[in-house]
Amino acid sequence: MSDSIGAADTSCEAVIAAADFPVFVVTTRAGAETSGCLVGFTAQVSIYPLRFLVGLSKRNHTHGVAARAERLNVHLLGSDRLALATLFGSETGDEVDKFARCAWHPGPDGLPVLDEAAGWFGGAILERHDFGDHTAVLLAPDTGAAPPADVSTLRFHMVEHLEPGHDA
Ligand SMILES: Cc1cc2nc3c(=O)[nH]c(=O)nc-3n(C[C@H](O)[C@H](O)[C@H](O)COP(=O)(O)O)c2cc1C
Repeated sequence: MSDSIGAADTSCEAVIAAADFPVFVVTTRAGAETSGCLVGFTAQVSIYPLRFLVGLSKRNHTHGVAARAERLNVHLLGSDRLALATLFGSETGDEVDKFARCAWHPGPDGLPVLDEAAGWFGGAILERHDFGDHTAVLLAPDTGAAPPADVSTLRFHMVEHLEPGHDA
């Protein structure tokens, strides 16, 4: 185990990769425009009140729509939903209409709810923070549908081979 300063970035990346975090698909809507992408930068950051943070790359189509949106939906995918993860993680709304290629229905405020999701929640955007190449979006979850208790979730090691639609 290295503890040199020069190894800090590599160590951090290796530790995070080894944690094998779950990945989600976020969707959003501003006016008539919908967007969504695969995200790994997420965390619950408070219990009371319930708060959830999502990191959105500034290069993503989703970032532009989310900047004008009032809400985000966060979808948990089962481990058998690699095709859906590939659609949202390797294609960009700058070039394709992802929502013409998957099953969804409008949820609260018209935001897309993905029919293949194992579970999802939606929340109002409370704050946005510029943390570098990503903007952290703070949500107050207030709606959604719970996944089955025995859900097997899609995790980082299952999607790390995907080529992102945009470089971070
Ligand atoms: C494993 C993996 C994790 C990703 N995590 C994030 C993330 O946390 N935040 C983000 O904004 N993009 C993330 N991406 C990249 C976007 O999902 C990808 O660039 C997508 O094509 C952007 O779509 P859009 O331009 O329609 O928004 C990730 C991609 C992969 C493959």
